[in-house]
Amino acid sequence: MTKRVAVVSGGIGGLGTAICKQLADSGRRVVAADLAVRAERVAEFEQEVASYQGQITFAPVNVGDEASCAALIEQVRADAGEVDILVNAAGITRDTTLKKMSTQQWLDVMKVNLDGAFFLTRQVIDGMSQRGFGRIVNISSVNGQTGQFGQTNYSASKAGLHGFTMALAKEVARKGVTVNSVSPGYCRTAMVMAIPEDIRNQIVASIPVGRIGEPEDIARAVDFLSGDQAGFITGVNLPVNGGMFISF
Ligand code: CAA
Repeated sequence: MTKRVAVVSGGIGGLGTAICKQLADSGRRVVAADLAVRAERVAEFEQEVASYQGQITFAPVNVGDEASCAALIEQVRADAGEVDILVNAAGITRDTTLKKMSTQQWLDVMKVNLDGAFFLTRQVIDGMSQRGFGRIVNISSVNGQTGQFGQTNYSASKAGLHGFTMALAKEVARKGVTVNSVSPGYCRTAMVMAIPEDIRNQIVASIPVGRIGEPEDIARAVDFLSGDQAGFITGVNLPVNGGMFISF
């Protein structure tokens, strides 16, 4: 069988890079889609995945731009084939309390974290449905479940992803397409390392398993949900947070 083709938005980011490697290790042909303006990081990423010998490639996208998402999927089709797996992992923070938040800080987060998932998913959903197979995994956040001080924009966008996940799961379940979300807790990424150290230390100290998450912890969950054998799991949220938020 030909390799399943996976597109990972935010593919060169902290979680995205680990997700790309994990999906490639599981035999997928992976396209890491991200902002090309991050030229230094793109070059570094290409070094990091050199041993995958073309099984992981970079493609430019701005997920907040519908035309850019359309162009990306067109390029993936031409270079790698039809998209079987989409991981919406592109995400940004603009943390500040609501009383200080500018409209731009609100809109920027919504555009990348929520509109981006819509724009990309919209490009692949018809093809997946027609072919009778698809896996969509949306990277949400523990903070989309609990709310976090200073993150009204981010928490709203990540909670929005859960609604998107559940609604779309119902729409495409009969077509062999599953839609799930993974909600990471605090992991060793640049995004988390950017939190002021004293605040970050307090947060990490509150994680029941006693350590910060590793990007690979998240990647394994994405791998599981995107597998061919996971077809009976849809519309769920899989929290991977070290016990930071336990619920059912
Ligand atoms: N709960 C209650 N009160 C708090 C608080 C908290 N968690 N944090 C701060 N406060 C209080 C402060 O003590 C302060 O009180 P006073 O006015 O009485 O002095 C008041 O709230 C305002 O605090 P600041 O002036 O510090 O507010 P700020 O706007 O300058 O800073 C912030 C706020 C930048 C958001 C800072 O609190 C912060 O960085 N918090 C961490 C946010 C965070 O966890 N982000 C996650 C990023 S990683 C990620 O998002 C990945 C993922 O999915 C997990």
